[in-house]
Amino acid sequence: MSLTDEGSLSTDSAARGPLATGGEGATQQVVVLDYGGQYSQLIARRVRECGVFSTLLPHHVGPEEVARRRPVGLILSGGPASVYADGAPKLDPALLDLGIPVLGICYGMQLIARELGGRVEGAEVGEYGRSQLTVHRHGRLLADTPEEQACWMSHRDTVFAPPPGFEALASSTGSPVAAIESVQRGIYGIQFHPEVVHTPYGQQVLRNFLIDICGADGSWSARSVIEEQIERIREQVGDGRALCALSGGVDSSVAALLVHRAIGDRLVCVFVDHGLMRKDEGAQVISTFQDHFHVPLIAVDAEARYLAKLAGVTDPEQKRKIIGTEFIRIFEEEAARLDGIRFLVQGTLYSDVIESGGGTGTATIKSHHNVGGLPEDLEFELVEPLRTLFKDEVRAVGAELGMPERLVWRQPFPGPGLAIRVVGGEVTKEKLDILREADAILQDEIRRAGLYRELWQSFCVLPDVRAVGVQGDERTYGNVVAIRAVTSDDAMTADWARLPYDLLEQIASRMINEIRPVGRVVLDITSKPPGTIEWE
Ligand code: XMP
Repeated sequence: MSLTDEGSLSTDSAARGPLATGGEGATQQVVVLDYGGQYSQLIARRVRECGVFSTLLPHHVGPEEVARRRPVGLILSGGPASVYADGAPKLDPALLDLGIPVLGICYGMQLIARELGGRVEGAEVGEYGRSQLTVHRHGRLLADTPEEQACWMSHRDTVFAPPPGFEALASSTGSPVAAIESVQRGIYGIQFHPEVVHTPYGQQVLRNFLIDICGADGSWSARSVIEEQIERIREQVGDGRALCALSGGVDSSVAALLVHRAIGDRLVCVFVDHGLMRKDEGAQVISTFQDHFHVPLIAVDAEARYLAKLAGVTDPEQKRKIIGTEFIRIFEEEAARLDGIRFLVQGTLYSDVIESGGGTGTATIKSHHNVGGLPEDLEFELVEPLRTLFKDEVRAVGAELGMPERLVWRQPFPGPGLAIRVVGGEVTKEKLDILREADAILQDEIRRAGLYRELWQSFCVLPDVRAVGVQGDERTYGNVVAIRAVTSDDAMTADWARLPYDLLEQIASRMINEIRPVGRVVLDITSKPPGTIEWE
């Protein structure tokens, strides 16, 4: 088990088999087979935006595994390989005979074309980025889209002739055959990426496939998940009791609220305030859950305990370890006080499931997230109501459950909190307070500028250096605050945000005027890679 980047607890979920929701025909779903393309998760999300539940599976799972889920359609994703490369993922032809419509995207289309006797060859020049699509015949797949449209391409291998029995629907700047269909066989293909925003009619093409061709009813929504999950939680927990470690992040909060809806006061939440939260954050968590939602909550004020443990520690990994271990101790102490609790609620997301191997078969767990978690011998049975949802869907569920906007849209915040943003020196209450004040000003100004949601994260760092300045007639020797603001989709890569100069000026001047010890403000303009988002 590990702490996620919101500080909620997550587990290595790969071992626990198929997804609960939508599995085995309960919900109408489409399976997306992942051939390793960078946009595979995005395809799965776009399908859901069309109102159809989707499951992302590694390409090698085989036709039986796909069929077992009784999907209404199958999508083969793009991938980085050439269909002719040694070891390139192959298409199991039985996937085309499951009696459901199949859509191949990019590599997926090339696999289909090659398998069924079309002509696929490596082109002299690749086609990457924006391209112009010319539709010769709309067929079913390209219905209700213009004859000329922009699209996004990313391929070198190219389909030069469709398989026998297929119609070529469109061509593009670099692709003689950019879309194919055989209505009779129920097999379709597009060379371009419908899932990216640079393909303006991509969503229409997906909708054509899902609704018209697969006959999906398009009624799935993150909202419809609530009723379904409540049912499932009731079934699983019966008349038992459940415990939830609340971090204040959106995942554990939504998970807790869902479970509370399902089993009421038989849920107990534990919130450990380690004193490393941002300004007023601890109080907000307590008032939201206790006063507003009336969820039974044990709030542990552990600030003094953490500060004592962190005294004199400067090494980041040691800090993380201490914070994680202390969390386990406190959680165990609280759990021991509560008798007869068998279930533990966790805010595991679908992306965690995929990342830990449940989706693509490649386990890429971020090691620094394994900073804590609960020991195995606690022997709880896990309740994970968000296991099938992407982050944006969790937010929609949260909003639907009446969670305050601030919590629903909260940016990720690391489990070890501000301790890993006091860098280079020991963590003290005094430094944490400076950081908290600086961070509050930053968040306030960024929200006021309407940029909060556009940023993946925005925060301050307090390095252990001082800089000379002049204020009035006085020479000062003040703290330096660094502003870090990044855009990102998944924290694996990130770009530094181009915040407007006027906004930066306002932030810097407020920090220096309102926080006495701060004498200088700097901006971090490092992207990831080569930098990381946090400083340590
Ligand atoms: P980096 O710094 O590796 O961070 O680019 C990627 C994402 O992970 C968060 N992060 C952490 N989350 N415990 C957490 O729960 C940690 O120790 C930790 N370190 C980094 C970071 O805020 C960013 O969202």
